[in-house]
Amino acid sequence: RKKIMIPDLYAKYEKGEPITMLTAYDYPMALLEEKAGVDIILVGDSMGMTVYGLDTTLPVTLDMIIRHAQAVRRGAPTAFIVGDMPYMTYQVNKDEAIRNAGRLMAEAGVDAIKLEGGREMAETIAAIVKATIPVMGHIGLTPQSISQLGGFKAQGRTAESALKLVEDAKALEAAGCFSILVEAVPPEVNKVIVETVKVPIISLGSGVYGAGQCLIVHDMLGFFDRFTPKFVKKYANLNAEIVKALEAYVADVKEKNFPGPEHVYPMSREEVEKFLA
Ligand code: KIV
Ligand code: NA
Repeated sequence: RKKIMIPDLYAKYEKGEPITMLTAYDYPMALLEEKAGVDIILVGDSMGMTVYGLDTTLPVTLDMIIRHAQAVRRGAPTAFIVGDMPYMTYQVNKDEAIRNAGRLMAEAGVDAIKLEGGREMAETIAAIVKATIPVMGHIGLTPQSISQLGGFKAQGRTAESALKLVEDAKALEAAGCFSILVEAVPPEVNKVIVETVKVPIISLGSGVYGAGQCLIVHDMLGFFDRFTPKFVKKYANLNAEIVKALEAYVADVKEKNFPGPEHVYPMSREEVEKFLA
């Protein structure tokens, strides 16, 4: 597959060909997603929860995202990789935001960065874009604001908040976002966003409208079971498969059924005799 760039994503969008997006945090998953033909891989700060066992995304650092994005890049040379900007790496001021986004681009080799927020982030986004770094916006459920939102809850379910989301999408487009991720809002609201802005909208738990779909890979593979949002379709139950394999190993070792003769390195009879003599 040829390396996917922004014009390729736009070409898909213009042809009405849905864009596929999943998270990945490491080399093996990136390899598999590349093989499956996933267009956009997000190295998300959701790794705090899916990979590090934290309760929120807030403790994730830029160095963590960079290290993981480097591994993902090695596994997925042609996918369009988006690096997530962690909590407080872009909120303080524009200079810090540009410098941190630049580190993700230069040190991890991602194709774009993503950051959370609406109108209030527009100036910062414009500054990052001006510094040659493509930005994906992220509105709706924005997990870095969990304390203000009062939990991982769907957004835009009142007319007033829905109208604010449409205004946010407009502001992000005007600021220069090449695409916007809309997380956990009602499909009716996402539809209006899609009809209002020209840039491709990626839906995460926001219905079928838009340029494409995103899921957290650990959710859709059944590889994370602390909780599963309503919008996740489970395509596999990896947890159950893995536990089955691990239990079989434990049983085999206890019963001395493993290793078998096929799992050891043979030595010629002659060498064995010399050795034991
Ligand atoms: O960190 C992440 O995985 C994300 C997705 C929820 C889009 O931002
Ligand atoms: Na994120």
